Amino acid sequence: MKVVETGRDMARTCREAERPLGLVPTMGALHQGHLALVRRAREENETLAVSIFVNPSQFGEGEDLEQYPRDLDRDLELLRAEGADLVFVPAMEEVYPAGFDTWVSVERLSGKLEGAHRPGHFRGVATVVTKLLNVTRPDRAYLGQKDGQQTAVIRRLVRDLDMGVEIVVVPTVREADGLACSSRNAYLDPQQRQAAPVVYRALACAESARRAGERDGDTLRGKVRKTLEREPFVEGIDYVSVADADSLEELETVTGRAMVSTAVRMGRVRLIDNIILE
Ligand code: PAJ
Repeated sequence: MKVVETGRDMARTCREAERPLGLVPTMGALHQGHLALVRRAREENETLAVSIFVNPSQFGEGEDLEQYPRDLDRDLELLRAEGADLVFVPAMEEVYPAGFDTWVSVERLSGKLEGAHRPGHFRGVATVVTKLLNVTRPDRAYLGQKDGQQTAVIRRLVRDLDMGVEIVVVPTVREADGLACSSRNAYLDPQQRQAAPVVYRALACAESARRAGERDGDTLRGKVRKTLEREPFVEGIDYVSVADADSLEELETVTGRAMVSTAVRMGRVRLIDNIILE
């Protein structure tokens, strides 16, 4: 496994690598969710590249950039065990050199849901992902359904800018009780941790109602919200959405592929999760 620190070296190594090449972009602090992406990419490609970069431009003011968990040695150990070929660990000045002045913005999609609560977040994501794809030029990039809006934003970016990379979306990995794996779960205290699976249970209510034939958007949103509101450890609900999975437009009536998503506040953590209704 080769650890690469500069864009130049990464670009050259990827140019010479066996194809297809799969890239898994991450911010490190790897858990089972990340590893599911890594395993899928390992199976489907000759060369497996993983990037680890805590991207400051996607964190808002007052968010957890400084406290974001970092453990590079452990991450590299895990990636070695998964058979990664290349790990790109760029320094800040590699990604954002002095005078950096170019931003990628997926306009409307970025303003919805998470974007409405985290201004600038998806501009930071779209910019860093564009840079990672430009350096690596992978055949496929792997993203988690856990960050449902992020997958929609990046799929749109890649299509709109003709980036010619296949985006593979991997299902959300959950703990045994349904809570979606996330590095931020570590910030929950024991009582909050016990309450946190309510988020998935609430989404699952919409899914079972849909299965039973319910198609009305407001009714489905209402079922999710009611379940969340019954949990005292949920301190606030940022949104409950039933939206078209590609455009993220709220649906009056569910017909095609829809994403049910929510963000709730519990202590200092914002829990986000979603499920897809096929
Ligand atoms: P990060 O939060 O480290 O996540 C890296 C990838 O792992 C993302 O595609 C995310 O959706 C996926 N992931 C996280 N938890 C998951 C889970 N429980 N199940 C399945 N996949 C999961 O997302 C980012 O980093 C950044 O925004 C990034 C794309 C790297 C750009 O900086």
